[in-house]
Amino acid sequence: MPVYKTNSEEETIALGERLAKDVLPPRGLVLLQGNLGAGKTTLVKGIARGRLACPPDEVSSPTFTLIHEYGEPVRVYHIDLYRLEHERQVATLGIEELLDRDALVIIEWGEKFPRLWPRDRVEIRIERHEGDQRGFVTTATNAS
Ligand SMILES: Nc1ncnc2c1ncn2[C@@H]1O[C@H](COP(=O)(O)OP(=O)(O)O)[C@@H](O)[C@H]1O
Ligand SMILES: [Mg+2]
Repeated sequence: MPVYKTNSEEETIALGERLAKDVLPPRGLVLLQGNLGAGKTTLVKGIARGRLACPPDEVSSPTFTLIHEYGEPVRVYHIDLYRLEHERQVATLGIEELLDRDALVIIEWGEKFPRLWPRDRVEIRIERHEGDQRGFVTTATNAS
């Protein structure tokens, strides 16, 4: 999968929408990697819209709530592990069970717990460039 670039928050939302419609699998795990303020949550705003789950302004950071659900039925689970420190804390969230559902499971800060994730997943690494420019490097790992 290629590298994408955006120059504003709006462009990142539009990119998320396009990825949701044309690039991301129908269901399964998406790990979003990038520093604080890189644009992970902003990308999820677009993905949620692309999956017809909810408008962008209903997406907010699950930093304290840990898991947000978008859509009825839920089409996107949005998880933020920034505040968790131990694998056993993550285990109590029941993410494995969410991965069996017919939805995307998008995780911010999943790289803190590399041993927990199935191999079959999409990773999107967000790089901050000059000004408001961001690069989105996508890789798909497929178990099959
Ligand atoms: N190209 C861009 N894409 C996404 N966000 C951008 C961009 N340029 C500037 N921003 C700003 O960067 C911040 C990204 O925040 P957020 O998506 O919450 O990051 P993260 O979830 O990675 O911590 C927002 O304040 C947004 O307005
Ligand atoms: Mg975030």
